[in-house]
This record gives sequence, C-alpha cells and structure tokens, in this order.
Amino acid sequence: MAEETQTPADLAIHPRDIAFGRGSSVPRWWLGGDPVATAFFNTLSASFPQGERFFMDAVRPYRDAADATLAAQIAAFTAQEAVHSREHVVFNARIAEQGYDFGRIDSYLKKEFDFGRKLPPLNRLSATIALEHFTAILAHAILSDGDDLAAAPAEIRRMWQWHAIEEIEHKAVAFDTFLAAACRFSPLRRWWLRCYSMVLTTIIFFHFLAFGVGEFFRHDGIENLRSWRALLRYLWIEPGLLRRAAPSYFAYFKPGFHPWRVDDRALIADVEATLTSHAMA
Ligand SMILES: [Fe+2]
Ligand SMILES: [Fe+2]
Repeated sequence: MAEETQTPADLAIHPRDIAFGRGSSVPRWWLGGDPVATAFFNTLSASFPQGERFFMDAVRPYRDAADATLAAQIAAFTAQEAVHSREHVVFNARIAEQGYDFGRIDSYLKKEFDFGRKLPPLNRLSATIALEHFTAILAHAILSDGDDLAAAPAEIRRMWQWHAIEEIEHKAVAFDTFLAAACRFSPLRRWWLRCYSMVLTTIIFFHFLAFGVGEFFRHDGIENLRSWRALLRYLWIEPGLLRRAAPSYFAYFKPGFHPWRVDDRALIADVEATLTSHAMA
C-alpha cells in the first residue's frame, strides 16, 4: 500500500515560546523523590538539546523544495524544536546544580550524532522520523493513559506537558518531509528504508537510555542490580510508560503507516489551558 500524507488539513502547529523555572531550583529527585524515575526523565532531557538540533538540521534542507503547506509546517516544527532545546538546556543546568555531571552523556551523544551527520540526507531524515515517532508516542502515553509526571513539582510537570503537546502537533512534519523527499522511490523501498532505520534507531536509543540512566545511577551511588530491576519495573510494568507506548511503536512497521492515523489532538486542549493560565507566572 502506498504511503501518503494523512495530516489533517486543518492541523495547526503553534510554537509556544514559554520560559519555565527561571530562578528556581529543581529537587534532586524531582519526580516524586524516586531516583529511578527521575533518572529516566533526566536521561531523556539530556538527549534533547543535541537530538533536536539533529532533527532540525535533517528536515530544514528540504524546506525550499516543499510545497507551501509543508514548508510552513517545517518552519513551525523548527521553531518548536528550537524552544524545546532552549528549555531543556536550562532544565539540564538546573539538574546539574544538584551535583550531576552531564559530561560523559554529552560526549556520548556528540559521537552518535556526529556519526549520524555523516549519513546521506535521506538516511538522516529516516532516523529523524523514527526518533520523532518515539517522542510522539511517549508524549501520547504521558498525556493519555497515565500521569507519569503527577508526582513532579507543578512547574516541571507543565514543562514536560508543554513539550509533549508540541511533539504531538508536529509529529508528522518530518514524516511528510520524508514522503516528499522519497516520492520517487517505490512504496516498498520507502517502507524498507524507514523500517530498517527504525530498527537501528531503536537499538541506538535503548543503548543510549541505558548509558544515560547508568550515569545518573552512578552519581547517586545506586548503580546496582536492584536499581536496574526497579527501572525495568518502572518502564514496563507500573506505571509502564514503555509498555503503554509499545502498540503504537509497532504500528510504525505497518505498510501505509502515517503518524496521523491516530488523531490525538484532543489531548492538547487540556494542557493548553494550563499553559495559558500560567505562561506569565
Ligand atoms: Fe521537541
Ligand atoms: Fe519533535
């Protein structure tokens, strides 16, 4: 089956330029006093500044050749990711104030993304759509079937939710860019390229996750089997963020997949209300 865009014609992608938590500190184990859950979200946060820079650089070269609608979406996507990066740089600095050192994580990521930047543009783009699928399905899971951030301070929870709604809004921008860029490929070749990239990206993503969480465990002096078991339980059993996101992950491999096969824009409204009421706080 041919893959074609299923992005809603009335989709609106709003960059929301909001600054979170300036001048305040982050508790060391800000997620409910749980070092394991905190280490997981800290690791995601650590990856965003370099990751989102990579996404922007992968998509931007296609803007000039895109039709007007897609070009506008690419501009909005880039604007959103740039502000996400900025806010996670600030958040990471606040985490670092608690005595964590991001040096090894940053070097690890730099090595990965330097390798990624050597790939041909279409491969960079296919890695980007795989990672954007990860962010979109994690965002969906966090906002829909469980409040993984309920135990976080309100302002930190709001930052993650703000990031999540924007990931949902722009979830198909890189994907549609890929479809346009690879339009001369046969549907089978396109399917193979994005699935092959997803498998490799998944391996790289989980390897990074283990490395990053291990770094936070090391700084906390809890790098032991008990912590790793607690992490597996946290991610896969209760509250089981990865377990809840797994069906959406596998949907990516279906021929004809498109991120907007699931229209989850309804999740955005509730968060939006909290942002506007606190944006100036
Ligand atoms: Fe983002
Ligand atoms: Fe994104």
